[in-house]
Amino acid sequence: MEAIKTSNTTTRCLVLIRVIRRSDFPTLINIYRQCFREPPWFEEFEENEVLADFRQACQWPETIFLVAEISKRVAGAAIAYDLCRKPEVNDLVLPDGRVIYTAEVFVDRRYRGNGLAKILIFSHLALAKIRGFTHLAVRTSVDQPVIQHIFCDLLGAQIVTEQNVVSTKVIDGVARQLPDRRIIMIGKVPELALSQTLRAVWPAAQATISL
Ligand SMILES: CC(C)(COP(=O)(O)OP(=O)(O)OC[C@H]1O[C@@H](n2cnc3c(N)ncnc32)[C@H](O)[C@@H]1OP(=O)(O)O)[C@@H](O)C(=O)NCCC(=O)NCCS
Repeated sequence: MEAIKTSNTTTRCLVLIRVIRRSDFPTLINIYRQCFREPPWFEEFEENEVLADFRQACQWPETIFLVAEISKRVAGAAIAYDLCRKPEVNDLVLPDGRVIYTAEVFVDRRYRGNGLAKILIFSHLALAKIRGFTHLAVRTSVDQPVIQHIFCDLLGAQIVTEQNVVSTKVIDGVARQLPDRRIIMIGKVPELALSQTLRAVWPAAQATISL
């Protein structure tokens, strides 16, 4: 898939979901760093660290790295790859089948609430399903309700385990080691991912014929 187009009905902005390009890196790195400075993460990443992670993901052949543009501005992205690349999660859930792991989803705060995370997630899961992945997995903070809503309420995944972690959080300019709780959700890649992606990107999917 080179690109898919949909339109946001509230604001009538053109939303484009497409594959990452090398020229997106500076903007995406900036958005990523801003996003993960927010609660519940409070994490501070170096530019080079994020670039190295993005480049690493791009080297794996199965990686799906999608970018959302809204009115031609890069607004967010989602990165997914085979769960076997994440042994610390894979070993906890011991899944059946081929599992697509949603490693990152992030949307510039100026463009939130427009359904971009949802369409980024549905789109990469639809692609994953077409490429033979049967199951999905994602890990997030127990205090990240949007990802829980999309994966559990909309896509039917279930929380299968929790992890207590300690991470370096920078709050009010002070770095501290603080505890956090992560949850891991798994499920089947549902048909809904395909049908919602199709519905979002192809107006004919909603049209009725009257001759
Ligand atoms: C999480 C994030 C990607 C969401 O982006 P977004 O584009 O604003 O999300 P969407 O507009 O697609 O909203 C998705 C759904 O979440 C729902 N939602 C919004 N706030 C919610 C809340 N507090 N609790 C539950 N659901 C919520 C929306 O109503 C929508 O569901 P609906 O269509 O069924 O009504 C964005 O907030 C972000 O980048 N956060 C920082 C980085 C991050 O935490 N990433 C996830 C790491 S695992």
